[in-house]
Amino acid sequence: MNLELENLSVKVDNKDILKDFNLKIKPGEIHAIMGPNGVGKSTLSKVIMGYPDYKIVKGDIKVDNKSIKELEITKRAKLGIFLVYQNPVSIEGVRSSEVLKSSYDAVSNEKKSLYEFITNIEDISVELNMNKDMLHREFNVGFSGGERKKNEILWLLMLKPKFIILDELDSGLDVDSLKVVTEALNKYLEENKETSVLIITHYTRILDYLKPKYVHMVKDGTIIKSGDFSLAKLIEKYGYNQSFDIKGDLTCE
Ligand SMILES: Nc1ncnc2c1ncn2[C@@H]1O[C@H](COP(=O)(O)OP(=O)(O)OP(=O)(O)O)[C@@H](O)[C@H]1O
Ligand SMILES: [Mg+2]
Repeated sequence: MNLELENLSVKVDNKDILKDFNLKIKPGEIHAIMGPNGVGKSTLSKVIMGYPDYKIVKGDIKVDNKSIKELEITKRAKLGIFLVYQNPVSIEGVRSSEVLKSSYDAVSNEKKSLYEFITNIEDISVELNMNKDMLHREFNVGFSGGERKKNEILWLLMLKPKFIILDELDSGLDVDSLKVVTEALNKYLEENKETSVLIITHYTRILDYLKPKYVHMVKDGTIIKSGDFSLAKLIEKYGYNQSFDIKGDLTCE
């Protein structure tokens, strides 16, 4: 998917969070965003997904050159946008499989019988090294942080999105689980070459696995520096407050 953010400025609770945010992601590209706590990374992901609390005061979000600013969440999901939440919520009283099936029916262009659907999610749960019983428990209720993240990836692999936002997928996953999950994602991306990814993270480990082409550093609600993977390494080494380009070891576009 071709996704473009043009001078995007966003207010939450009457506070300016994103300011003139510009980013172009072409089909098949993987971009990463890094930045200190509270600069607006999760806000960005929710604005792209279409949460009404996040008010766009200026600028636009375009998919294949068409504005999606006025589209509600379900319509954006139908276009193929998928957000893996930093903190996935739980839903009491409904089984995981039921939540997944109803969202699949609402969003996917493919139709599956319940039997086919259950077989499919069970296969994916094996691939993700999940306990199959989790599919039949209440959605995310009592799930550990890592189990919730795996549940999100299972959902993602069922819905086959064209634009994926991973908001701190790596938080909560142990080293082995992160490997299993990123292997499944890489396999999906290999089979779906037009799918683009926006990774939000604080650490380079996930980037070692998913290999973004571009890394962007966000501060005060906007991108202040873009580069390749080496930028992530520099951020890890020096933090966000160092002016490390004067050291001369940064390759920027
Ligand atoms: N619904 C909301 N109501 C009020 N303030 C909000 C809301 N959502 C976000 N904010 C504020 O917007 C700012 C940006 O939050 P956001 O969650 O986007 O940060 P972040 O960059 O994702 O941080 P982290 O790295 O800690 O996840 C914060 O100051 C936060 O308190
Ligand atoms: Mg966040």
